[in-house]
Amino acid sequence: MNSTNVSASCQEVQMKESDFFVSKTNLESHISYVNRDFCQMSGYQESELLGQTYDLVRHELVPHSIYNLMWEHLNAEEEFFGYIVNRNKNDSYYWAFLNVTPCYENNQLIGYFSVQREPSQQALQAIKPLYTKMCQVERQATAAQLLPLSSAVLWRVITKEYKNYAEFVLSL
Ligand SMILES: Cc1cc2nc3c(=O)[nH]c(=O)nc-3n(C[C@H](O)[C@H](O)[C@H](O)COP(=O)(O)O)c2cc1C
Repeated sequence: MNSTNVSASCQEVQMKESDFFVSKTNLESHISYVNRDFCQMSGYQESELLGQTYDLVRHELVPHSIYNLMWEHLNAEEEFFGYIVNRNKNDSYYWAFLNVTPCYENNQLIGYFSVQREPSQQALQAIKPLYTKMCQVERQATAAQLLPLSSAVLWRVITKEYKNYAEFVLSL
């Protein structure tokens, strides 16, 4: 597609340093809380987001294996850090640095809490080509091979210089 065909609504928008997008989900990943900043960026009313899943804002620039890794952390009741892209209601999109943590009440897991902050440009320079490669691998893989092959691309980068994913992602 050449640039004259790109609709203004598909443009990337940047988070600001002061932006702090907070949301919470129940255990079934249905959104139970969103702050005003999140609503403003997404273009959705709070009432349009509550009770929904993040499918509403899911963007195909993020590999499935990244969200799979996120769920591996959450299922082990560990927090997760990662770079994501979300699609807004008007089809614009933004990159964010995401932190998701398990939420407890009376020592019982009741859901998850997430904060999105402005990602550094330096981190995105490393992440964008990596995600492009992972998404390319996922598009070409069979359903059974999609996660292992895409994760292998990520682990090749991590094992070169880092001990684990957390060390990698927090070093960017
Ligand atoms: C607290 C929390 C926040 C999340 N935030 C987002 C988000 O902003 N965007 C998104 O696409 N997925 C988010 N997810 C992940 C989604 O629930 C879901 O796993 C993902 O969109 C599905 O990816 P898949 O298409 O690879 O299965 C979040 C999950 C949790 C628990």
